[in-house]
This record gives sequence, C-alpha cells and structure tokens, in this order.
Amino acid sequence: MPEMTPEQEVVHNLIRSRRSVFPHAYNDKPIPEHIINYILEAGNWAPTHRLTEPWRYTVIRGEGLKRLSDFLGDAYKNSVSDDKFSEIKFKKTTQKPLKCGCVIAICMQRDPELSIPEWEEIASMAMSVQNMWLTCTSYNIGCYWSSPGSIIGNPSFLNLPEGQQCYGLLYMGYSDHELQPGKRTPIGEKINWVDA
Ligand SMILES: Cc1cc2nc3c(=O)[nH]c(=O)nc-3n(C[C@H](O)[C@H](O)[C@H](O)COP(=O)(O)O)c2cc1C
Repeated sequence: MPEMTPEQEVVHNLIRSRRSVFPHAYNDKPIPEHIINYILEAGNWAPTHRLTEPWRYTVIRGEGLKRLSDFLGDAYKNSVSDDKFSEIKFKKTTQKPLKCGCVIAICMQRDPELSIPEWEEIASMAMSVQNMWLTCTSYNIGCYWSSPGSIIGNPSFLNLPEGQQCYGLLYMGYSDHELQPGKRTPIGEKINWVDA
C-alpha cells in the first residue's frame, strides 16, 4: 500500500471496513433521530447528473416496522404454494424488520423531463446509498441493502407517487459484533490500462 496521509487513511479504512451487517446481529439500542438525519444528509450529497437528485427515501421505524414485517410476511406467503411454504423462512422474513432500529426504503424518482437515461438515475441513487452506508459504518451502525422481489418496483406498502420506483431496503441497527474483514478478488484483475 502506498504511503497515505492520516486523512487519506481514514477514508480508505472506512471504505474497506464497511460491511453488510444483517439484522440478526443488531441489538435493540434505538438510533436517535438526529443520527438518522445525518445519514440521510450524507445521502443527499451524492453526485447527480444535471442535478436531478433522484434519490428518495422512506424512513420506517416504530409501528411502521411491524407493518413492514406483516407486508413482507404476506408477500412471502403469497409467493409460495402451501407445500413449499417454510415456517423458518417465514419467521426469518418477518423477524428482520422487527430487529431494526430503522429501515430506509431506497427509491428513485424519475426526472419527469427524462433529461438523462434511467441508468444514470439508478447509479446516482446507488451512490447516495453508499454515502449513507459509509456514514452508518462511521457511527458503528450495522446495515445492509436488501432487495427482495416483493419490495422492488411500486409496492403497495410504500404508496409511491408516479415515476418513483423502489430498489430495496436499507436495514439498520446498532450491533455489538465486530465487523468481519471483507472478501474481494484483487483489483488488478478488473483493470485494463491504456497508456501507450
Ligand atoms: C444493490 C444491492 C442489493 C443487495 N441485495 C441483497 C439481498 O437481497 N440480500 C443480501 O443478503 N445481500 C444483499 N446485498 C448485499 C451484498 O450481499 C453484499 O454487499 C456482498 O455480499 C458483499 O459484502 P459486504 O457488503 O459486506 O462487502 C445487496 C447489495 C447491493 C449493492
């Protein structure tokens, strides 16, 4: 690793230490509202072509988590035949939101003028999620992006306006577990240099 300034090292280590932390590892410590707001504020500073700022979020907490749990449970029940139904999978699905300090539904609002391609709006939304995920890491809040089929698109649970699509849920909660090192193959295998 080349030499880094302390500031560069902090950024590099934050990026590398960010992990998907799943709800079974969350404790029941509440996430204060001002911290949820810092996390959302970080999300608001993602790059955005033509300043369309396409990211939209629904913060689900308190009784809302129970409603999300019921929605995901019903969606699971409706997606499998009686003989394929698994009580374990049902329990896992419904317990997940209930273990969270909050869940943020990740959505994208299409620019009504369609001034840029859809993929750029999705890219911008995903960069906004990364800002929030890194901010969670810096606050020792575990989180992960979950993309169950039942929530993708325009799920009835969210009651989204015209042109808005949901791309998943950011599950969040404090955790007493230490972050595990991540796994990646070397970057060198994914780079092509054009320098001659
Ligand atoms: C767009 C997106 C959707 C994801 N959806 C799921 C998911 O539905 N279920 C899941 O277990 N993990 C999901 N993940 C998390 C990945 O599994 C995780 O990022 C990957 O295993 C690498 O682990 P790390 O985040 O700890 O580095 C998703 C991640 C992204 C970026």
